[in-house]
Amino acid sequence: MANPDLETREVNVFSAEFSACPQPVYRELVAKCPFAKTALIGTPILSRYEDVLWALRHPEIFSSEMEMHMALGTERPMIPQQIDPPAQTKFRKILDPRFSKKRMAEIEPNVRRHAHELIDAFQARGECEFDHEFAMPLPATAFLALMGLPQSELPRFLKIKDMIIRPQTLLEHPTPEAAQALRKDAGRQIYEYFGGVIDERRKQPGGTDMVSYLLETEIDGQRLTREEILDVSFLLILAGLDTVTATLGCNMAYLAANPAQRRRLIEKPALIPGAVEELLRWETPVTAVPRILKQDVEIHGSLLKKGEMVTLLIGASNVDDKEFRDPALVDFERERNKHLAFGGGPHRCLGSHLARMELEVALQVWHERIPDYRVKPGETPRYSPGIREVQYLPLVWDRA
Ligand code: HEM
Repeated sequence: MANPDLETREVNVFSAEFSACPQPVYRELVAKCPFAKTALIGTPILSRYEDVLWALRHPEIFSSEMEMHMALGTERPMIPQQIDPPAQTKFRKILDPRFSKKRMAEIEPNVRRHAHELIDAFQARGECEFDHEFAMPLPATAFLALMGLPQSELPRFLKIKDMIIRPQTLLEHPTPEAAQALRKDAGRQIYEYFGGVIDERRKQPGGTDMVSYLLETEIDGQRLTREEILDVSFLLILAGLDTVTATLGCNMAYLAANPAQRRRLIEKPALIPGAVEELLRWETPVTAVPRILKQDVEIHGSLLKKGEMVTLLIGASNVDDKEFRDPALVDFERERNKHLAFGGGPHRCLGSHLARMELEVALQVWHERIPDYRVKPGETPRYSPGIREVQYLPLVWDRA
């Protein structure tokens, strides 16, 4: 059934141009076109806060069981992201305690120490490339420690997650086939690596690392299978190594371009937790999450059919003025900020406490040590398509 009021917009929400400055498009979609189509994937996009939250909270209609459609180099669904409740809930029950707020507070001093060490390496130089010298190593190192994996594997993991998340940036001729082959290769490497870790931990049980924990944990009185452990590990590597890096880059690019806002954080560091939330809302580094329809559903007068994919544009929902007063104002003291940057409903981010702790520590330490910085004159930050990593962010400051 067609809806005569619907506008179909050609918006490529997965391009680098869009990624650099998505908010004007978001605002237009929310205002005029709550149900749009993209140039790239042709699936309907939902953009209004109310619609997106409703979809996130109704997995029986908007299912996450779509590994066949996502082609991320996997052989099976990633757990828990690509399975629905009730099975998904059982996995969250065993994973949530490993990422609790309390546990993150325990590792906070290590993250703070590492932030200082990273800055020690470049402060006197008066410049750095923020993505490679700070945004990447800080969360990736903390994440590997949390997983109990050797730091020496970091370069390999970073390469593998980029092969899966943004293969187009690694290919000379980024055709869909070439991207798919790269993802398959990366997927094979992840299964192989974690298969080896499982074998080792089986020989030497009793460790405190994540794989040892998964080997000893039970769901409904049953040990996890080898495949389930591989499917959890696959997701953790992708989710844990990319998102905080992307968010840090978006935050610093914003603060470098908005000196008055930066000054507020320097004068009143107590604003940093509020700034982290507000920048998550405004920048929304994970711009969208996909779903597949488990049943027919009518949205804004249009019938969507069972089996269709839908994109939930959480970045757009975070600038919907029905939910956020004056959404284009970046207000570090915003009173009600129920942003969807970590998703919502049963699949809400497992790593949100880890991410918040790392983002707060990073902004605190950076602004204590290097309060006045700017983008290197003549240079432009370069955003990746998809998850909004600022892959090139040259910053300069006056040397002491
Ligand atoms: C600022 C950083 C982060 C952002 C913006 C972010 C964003 C998100 C979003 C939007 C979802 C929902 C996906 C969906 O509904 O399909 C999600 C899920 C998830 N995130 Fe994060 N994430 C971040 C950091 C992390 C970290 C550090 C980890 C590491 C453990 C992590 C692990 C996960 C996992 C495992 C899921 C799937 C949860 C489930 O399906 O039950 N995330 N994240």
